[in-house]
Amino acid sequence: MLIARSLAELDSAVSELRREDGTLALVPTMGALHEGHLALIEAGRRRGGTVAASIFVNPTQFGVGEDLARYPRDEAGDLAKLEAAGCDLVWLPSVEVMYPPGDVTRIEVGGPSQGFEGTARPGHFAGVATVVAKLFGQTRADLALFGAKDWQQVQVIKRMVADLCLPVAIEVVPTLRAPDGLALSSRNRFLSEAERAVAPVLYQTLERLAGELRGGAEVRAAIGAASVRLRAVGFRPDYVALVDAESLQPIERLGGENRVLAAARLGGVRLLDSVGV
Ligand code: PAF
Repeated sequence: MLIARSLAELDSAVSELRREDGTLALVPTMGALHEGHLALIEAGRRRGGTVAASIFVNPTQFGVGEDLARYPRDEAGDLAKLEAAGCDLVWLPSVEVMYPPGDVTRIEVGGPSQGFEGTARPGHFAGVATVVAKLFGQTRADLALFGAKDWQQVQVIKRMVADLCLPVAIEVVPTLRAPDGLALSSRNRFLSEAERAVAPVLYQTLERLAGELRGGAEVRAAIGAASVRLRAVGFRPDYVALVDAESLQPIERLGGENRVLAAARLGGVRLLDSVGV
């Protein structure tokens, strides 16, 4: 497995790998890797070409008072997992490499970045879009793989790729879950034992809500009941919503591809999840 820390090292690694095997699939990550990330590497490998992962805890997507300082970091552990998963290249830029002096360009995506995480975390999606566009440019990836767990993020990235005509295909890989339904996330490690026992209720509530909506329940009433269920077990929901799956526009009746989304705090941990309707 090749490791690149500078743009020059990345450039020669990408050229070498491309000579051996045409296409390059990229799995962008912020490290603290779990089985969900490794499923993305596996999905990239199934595409047949070379697979690269990036590890970069991107400061521009964290707001003031968010958990940048305590974001989990484990470079040695991550590299071992990537090597075992058959990753060909790891891109490990520093903040200075990603945002060198004089760097002033930021990408603001409209549409799907508005509302939900866009409201709860002002500036978050501009940070995500900017770093992801940089990663695409740096690696020259043909394909990039993202997990469906961060559904809004994926729609923002797809919109950016379409609007800027970026020459990269986006593949969305289903959310990997613990046997009790909790979506795998680097932040789950901050849950206490008692919180971990309650955490799957977020997914269970969304599944039940999706079922009720499919069965014809009135949207507002069903969403209200889901919020009450979450509060009853100790969650503090930021939002529970039914949206158009691509535009992220809230909707009042089912039609086309729809999704229920939720973000809720459990103790000090903010959990996100979503389910197709
Ligand atoms: O989902 C993440 O881990 C990050 O938002 C991403 C896409 C790697 C950009 O920093």
